[in-house]
Amino acid sequence: MKKIAVLTSGGDCSGLNAVIEAVVRGGIKEGYEIIGFERGYDGLLSNDYIKLDERSVMDLSRKGGSIIRNSNKTNLFNFRVKKDDGTYEYKDVSDIAVKNLREDDVECLVVVGGDGSMTSARDFMRKGINVVCVPKTIDNDVPYTDRSFGYTTAYFHIADAVQSLKTTAYSHERVMVLEVMGRQAGWLALEGGIGGNADAILLPEINYEVEKIVAFLKDRFEKGYRSSVIVVSEGAHERGKEQVAFIDKNYPDAVKLGGVGAILAKQIEEKLKPITGQEVRNTNLAYIQRGGDTNVNDIILGFRYGALAIRAIKNKDYGKMVAVKGGEDTFVPITDIVGNGPVGETSTGGAHNVELDCPLIKCAKELGIYLGE
Ligand code: F6P
Repeated sequence: MKKIAVLTSGGDCSGLNAVIEAVVRGGIKEGYEIIGFERGYDGLLSNDYIKLDERSVMDLSRKGGSIIRNSNKTNLFNFRVKKDDGTYEYKDVSDIAVKNLREDDVECLVVVGGDGSMTSARDFMRKGINVVCVPKTIDNDVPYTDRSFGYTTAYFHIADAVQSLKTTAYSHERVMVLEVMGRQAGWLALEGGIGGNADAILLPEINYEVEKIVAFLKDRFEKGYRSSVIVVSEGAHERGKEQVAFIDKNYPDAVKLGGVGAILAKQIEEKLKPITGQEVRNTNLAYIQRGGDTNVNDIILGFRYGALAIRAIKNKDYGKMVAVKGGEDTFVPITDIVGNGPVGETSTGGAHNVELDCPLIKCAKELGIYLGE
C-alpha cells in the first residue's frame, strides 16, 4: 500500500491536529496508508511512528497541540550528540532518517513546520526524499501565504488577555504591559492589540523610545484616562538597542526571545510614577497563546492546508509548500521560502513582516493607538 508520513516540527500551535486530520482523511480517501512520526524529526531519526487511521483522528481538529507531538530545533543534518565525557558534538545523522523512510516505504513526507523545519525538508529533498511542506507559525511571518494556521487562535487569546487587563488596570489606575509572541513580525501584537482595544502596541518593525511612551501615557492620564494597556511583541526593542534575548543552555544554538515586557514596565514606572503616581505591571502571555482549543478559522485553514498537501502528493507535485495566497490555493517551491543554499542554511524568501502602511497599521493610527513612532 502507498504510504505517506507526516510530522509536526518546531513550536506547536493550534491547528496542527486539523492539518493531521485532513492529511489522514484525504490520504486514506486516495488509497494511502498514513503514519505519523512522533516528536517531529526526532521520531524520524529513531523511527518512532504511529499508524493514523480515520478513527484515530475522528473529531481531532478542535484539540490544541499535536497528537504526534513536536520537537523544537532538531536538525538531523547537524544533530547534537552527547559524548561520554559530557560534552557535545554535532553529527550529520540524516542518512539514518533516509534509511528509515526507505525501509518504511514512505512515498512522501509531509513536514508541518516553520522555516527551520522547511530547510531540513529541502535538504532531505536533495537526498531524493519526496517532501511536501505545510507552513506553521503562530507569528504569521511565513512569506507567500496569507495566513498561518494557529495565528487567529493566538491573537484571540491576546485580545482576551488585553480585555482582562483593562478591567484590573482601571480598578487600580495602573499601566499594564502585556508581552506576546512575535519574533520578527508583530502581527500577533497588532491584531491581538487592536482586537482587545489596547492603548499602545509595540512591534518589532517599529523601534520604540521609552521617553515617548511615557509622554503618551502622561498625556492620556492628563486627559482623564487613569489606566492604560500596552501590548509589546517579544521581538520589539528600543531604538538603538538589541532585542531582549537569552541563550537556553539546553539549546545553545537557539536564541530565545523574552523579557522585553518586564524591562519595559520597569523603565516606564521609573519615569511615569513620579509624575502620575501610576504603577506599571507586566504580564507575559507566553505559551497560553499556543494552547487551548483551536478556533474555527484555524480549523478551516488547517483542513485546507492538509487537503492541499494530499492534492500535491496525488499530483506528484513534490518539493512544494502549500499556501493560500490572495484566497487561492497555491503550491510554492520550498526553495522560494528557504533558499537554495548549503545544507542547513536558511535564506528566507523575504519574511512576512508588518508593513508600515498596511491597512491594520492605518486603522490603529486612526483609532489613536500609540505605535511607538
Ligand atoms: O516561532 C513561534 C514562537 O512561538 C515564537 O514566537 C517564540 O519566540 C518561540 O516560538 C518560542 O518557542 P519555544 O520556547 O517553544 O522554543
